[in-house]
Amino acid sequence: MKNKELLEKAKEAKKKSYAPYSNFHVGAALLTGEGKVYFGSNIENASYSLTICAERTAVFNAVLEGERKFKAIAITSDSKDFTAPCGACRQVLLELCGEDLKVILGNSEGEIREFKLAELLPFSFNKKALNEV
Ligand code: THU
Repeated sequence: MKNKELLEKAKEAKKKSYAPYSNFHVGAALLTGEGKVYFGSNIENASYSLTICAERTAVFNAVLEGERKFKAIAITSDSKDFTAPCGACRQVLLELCGEDLKVILGNSEGEIREFKLAELLPFSFNKKALNEV
């Protein structure tokens, strides 16, 4: 699937965003190894710290359906700037999708950037570290 196509799906997911506090709506679309797409949006809470980001919603949705192999995640918001995944989401994506996951970012100007998750979370703490003790 082309980056642009996956970003379109992230835009669709953004419509489901529940963000009455920040008014910052985020959508994510996660592509599995077999070509299925899972959606995520940020879901906020009056107790602010309970908010969950779009990226984690997407990956948790997918894992709940038994998915374990992922190729790419596309992330978008209404901002002119690219919305990069927060640190917590990077760590969760590393755990469940691996460092080779392609991270596709799209801004409101229609520009696209692409990274490997390993670039966004270098020198990480990961499950391998737990096997070294
Ligand atoms: N947010 C995401 O959903 N994903 C990101 O990559 C960055 C931040 C959400 C969390 C919160 O609901 C709002 O954006 C503002 O931080």
